[in-house]
Amino acid sequence: MQRHPAFHPLISEHHRALVTAHRILKALAKGDPGELSALATQAAADLRGRWGRHFSCEERLFAALPDTVQARAAALIARILDEHVAMRSLAARLEAGDVPTLAVFAARLRDHTRLEERELIPLLEQLSDADTLARLGTLWRECDPT
Ligand SMILES: [Fe+2]
Ligand SMILES: [Fe+2]
Repeated sequence: MQRHPAFHPLISEHHRALVTAHRILKALAKGDPGELSALATQAAADLRGRWGRHFSCEERLFAALPDTVQARAAALIARILDEHVAMRSLAARLEAGDVPTLAVFAARLRDHTRLEERELIPLLEQLSDADTLARLGTLWRECDPT
């Protein structure tokens, strides 16, 4: 589906998140302990780096929404914020190489990203006027220029 250009950088980060989640899930099915331990360490670093920044930028984006949009998207935004907290809380156990936590992280990252792609972005597109969409695009580019 065609998305408003304001969301293109966010969508390409989501693509990266889904690729990461699928790579981890495939490795879990294979079960090589060395590979899983390396992936857990990487996931912890990414949670403190790339994904942590991604979540923070989304949170800034939510805070910048007009009150009327925030009100109508409140339930979905609250769920997304809870999921950010839950994923961030996995970093310490991932750092310790905990494989069950790696499975939880991969499934959460995949499901969370799908939720944002399937529900959040369409809802924001539907509720926001052109000025708001342009502002969200600028905000995202400034927050996460990767
Ligand atoms: Fe998110
Ligand atoms: Fe996201």
